[in-house]
Amino acid sequence: MVVLTGPPALPSKVIRLFVFVLVIILFLHTQRLSQSQTRTIEIDLEDLAAEGPPAEEQYLNRLKKEYGLTNYTAWSAWRIRTLEQASEWESITNLDADFRSNEFKLIEVKNPSRPQLVAQKQLDVPVHGSPLPEQVDASDFLFALSTSYDKVMENEFAMVKNWVRWMTGGNRNGNGATFILVLDQSPEHQVKELSEILKFQGIDAYVTTSTTPMSVAKRYVGMLQIIKDFSGTLAQKGQLKKWYGILDDKIFLPNLSYLQHRLFNYNSNDELYLGLPSERADWAIGDGFVTTYGGGAVFLTPSALSRIPGLPCFEDGKSDNKGWDSLLQDCLAQHTQMTMRVLPSFYSPSDNDDYAARTDSYETGIPPLVLHHYEERHQLNPSVAHLVTDVCGEACFLQRYRFRDNWVLVNGYTITEYPDGMNMADVPNSGDGHKSVIGPLQLDEDAVKRKMLFWTGHRNVWRLMDSVKGTNGDVWQAYVKRASAEDTPSFKRSEDEIMDSVVVLIWETAVSAKQ
Ligand SMILES: *[C@@H]1O[C@H](CO)[C@@H](O)[C@H](O)[C@H]1NC(C)=O
Ligand SMILES: *[C@@H]1O[C@H](CO)[C@@H](O)[C@H](O)[C@H]1NC(C)=O
Repeated sequence: MVVLTGPPALPSKVIRLFVFVLVIILFLHTQRLSQSQTRTIEIDLEDLAAEGPPAEEQYLNRLKKEYGLTNYTAWSAWRIRTLEQASEWESITNLDADFRSNEFKLIEVKNPSRPQLVAQKQLDVPVHGSPLPEQVDASDFLFALSTSYDKVMENEFAMVKNWVRWMTGGNRNGNGATFILVLDQSPEHQVKELSEILKFQGIDAYVTTSTTPMSVAKRYVGMLQIIKDFSGTLAQKGQLKKWYGILDDKIFLPNLSYLQHRLFNYNSNDELYLGLPSERADWAIGDGFVTTYGGGAVFLTPSALSRIPGLPCFEDGKSDNKGWDSLLQDCLAQHTQMTMRVLPSFYSPSDNDDYAARTDSYETGIPPLVLHHYEERHQLNPSVAHLVTDVCGEACFLQRYRFRDNWVLVNGYTITEYPDGMNMADVPNSGDGHKSVIGPLQLDEDAVKRKMLFWTGHRNVWRLMDSVKGTNGDVWQAYVKRASAEDTPSFKRSEDEIMDSVVVLIWETAVSAKQ
């Protein structure tokens, strides 16, 4: 039997006083910790004040300090006004401008010329109307994952910042979602500390820990029991969840309203398993077959969840060298008649394999449902990349925008120049027809119209390096191509002095655009 600590039992009279004193000490301690630590979180959203040097100069200084820039740097800054459009969503949006109409300028980073630095160019960007993250009601969801304290604390709380993006509406307000975090053998003070930090950020969280060493898979199995117990407690308080998301610690959900829209097709009263693999790497592809274990994101209905702890497949010893998602799927397939469905995200087995293997999934123009291993596979930091949705809505994240002169912005990810030409074509299905999904799974694809991007020759890529929000709500993005990048160094001051180059996009909030 897996041992995990549940909700604390009432202490006996004898130790009650001791516990009381301990709680006070812990409280003061975590209060201090959570204050200093949440301040760290906010430094990222540092104000770009209205007084003093122009905001562009402050932003340049931030980039110089945080990331370092070559003494001379090429710089192109744009102000962006979003125009909400009612027309149908498209896989790529054409912009009525040439990127080259705002040529890169040479900036001496130590002593920049202000006219060179300040964005002179305004760009109108059509965005598909969609709710802002803060407008989403996620109270149907309970999300749960298990990881270690150290991983949560890594990179200045990167994980917490990511969770804040999709488990709150910003400004420390919850969005209704409930979160269960099971730590790996953490002492009580770490559990308390994280619990405080998450609550302070507006996440409705229950944090607990495993108490003995065990495999990740076993920790996840233990977590299912915890979720079941906890949802019983929630139900008593009248909070009924419809969907239990069991997630890897490297999952980011960029658009809960899109997820809701996809889940709306199912009856949450049924006993149902849904796997949400993100991209091709979340599938096992063999000779003529494909399959997936859900890619670290599995959604269960309440009745499916309550079945699981009683199943005979999670006994000691059997589960140790399997992933939790494959263990879960195999078990359900073997011991239940449960309906098991897969909602493909960036990759679907009917896709043309050549194209899918060769193209970065985040640049395919497919509406993102789940991001998985964003860091390892794409060097993407979700909380930074997703910040722009505070201005342009969740529909604009990873949306492709094409300039007239063959530059393409993938919002929150890259800006790419295709100097030798590019074109768009409809996505053909693989046509070979012999690739069938094995196992108990049924595929439910979203019928979106996609367009493939083809290019010839080489391409130059600027990657998102930084994004912050100003006091007025504008979101600043910096896309950078390093001097040291292997592909064509397009910016040189002299033969041996190659420069970094930076594209700054300032996404204006509707309010500040009017002023
Ligand atoms: C950049 O500036 C620093 C400090 O002024 C100087 O030491 C360094 O040589 C410069 N680098 C180049 C490539 O000119
Ligand atoms: C996100 O969800 C909203 C609401 O369902 C939708 O309008 C929008 O198009 C979605 N964005 C993407 C990129 O799918």
